[in-house]
Amino acid sequence: MEYKSLINDNFLNLSNNYLFAEIAKRVKSYKESHPQANIISLGIGDVTRPLVPAVIDAMHAAVEEMASKATFRGYGPERGYDFLRQAIIEGDFLSRGIQMDASEIFVNDGAKSDTGNIGDILSTSCTVGITDPAYPVYIDSNMMAGRKVQLISDVANPPAHKIDIVYLCYPNNPTGEVLSRDILEKWVAYAQKNSSLILYDAAYEAFIRDAEIPHSIYEIPGARECAIEFHSYSKTAGFTGVRCGYTVVPKELGELNHLWERRQCTKFNGTSYIAQRAAEAVYTPEGRKQTREVIAYYMQNADIMMEALKEMGYQVRGGKNAPYLWVKTPEGMGSWDFFTQLLEQAQVVCTPGVGFGPAGEGYVRFTAFGEREDCKEAMSRLKGMVQSS
Ligand code: MLT
Repeated sequence: MEYKSLINDNFLNLSNNYLFAEIAKRVKSYKESHPQANIISLGIGDVTRPLVPAVIDAMHAAVEEMASKATFRGYGPERGYDFLRQAIIEGDFLSRGIQMDASEIFVNDGAKSDTGNIGDILSTSCTVGITDPAYPVYIDSNMMAGRKVQLISDVANPPAHKIDIVYLCYPNNPTGEVLSRDILEKWVAYAQKNSSLILYDAAYEAFIRDAEIPHSIYEIPGARECAIEFHSYSKTAGFTGVRCGYTVVPKELGELNHLWERRQCTKFNGTSYIAQRAAEAVYTPEGRKQTREVIAYYMQNADIMMEALKEMGYQVRGGKNAPYLWVKTPEGMGSWDFFTQLLEQAQVVCTPGVGFGPAGEGYVRFTAFGEREDCKEAMSRLKGMVQSS
């Protein structure tokens, strides 16, 4: 049966494949024609270190609870369990001097879903500003809804005209760059002046090493009146396969807090009890110490890769407060061409910058989430490639 007339036409305006699905397809095809190839993936930002012991212990205990009639849990509270929302408030906000109420925290299955789904409660006639380059979910999900997207190239200076909704992701995926307090203040002032809504993706905040850089937009006075913030345990605690995160919708945003609850109650049945107990364990003293060690491991990968790439003569950004390195391709080479060269000549997978937006053309992104030996081996293969060219 042909269902052409039933299709949401907005989907037809999307690129054929989601960026990381396209990369996986190309890598699969290369593997099929080169079955012996030992491919190192520094492409998608997926973690490689196992879950830390504090998290594993909490998950085991939660599984045991599920096995007993007295402690078994079915559907959980819509906004998430109180134990996790309290841990979030104390661990991520009160510890930074930010007041937050449990009714403002919505536990989810990771930031990806909510950064896309939040549009359900926003008008499709809103204009949407997205920094270029950006995590593809922002553009794709707004295109699906039929919203007009404007690309923002100068993040340091908010535009003179009004944009209804602005996505900011800092530390940034894909460039690995951060926003200073001054620049964030400018954005909050812009949103207040124009009655704009900032959608702040803080998924990588745990990787910030510079003490001056804000971890949450709510560190900026006035942000509670104009910003929704997204957090994730995917990168902070290696939950890419566990799935848990949370969204903050402050009461100052009026109706939006209730509408988001309304939306979640209808379309989302909560994050599993086991995953929420696992997330709670991230905030215990052992959980904090152990996850910090894993983050330090990845950031040491970033340091090693940064040094090696610079030594080879590449221009590199990011990597200091984020697990991503944003690398200029050689001599004006296109992102996909460099991706192919790296795959074919070094069997190393990166992410083509242009997949994150037009301003990403001429760049590729490397993740620091690999195994240490793989990161070193990838750099040594690149060196070989550079030397033989
Ligand atoms: C990325 O590689 O950009 C991320 O892993 C994607 C994601 O978090 O969904």
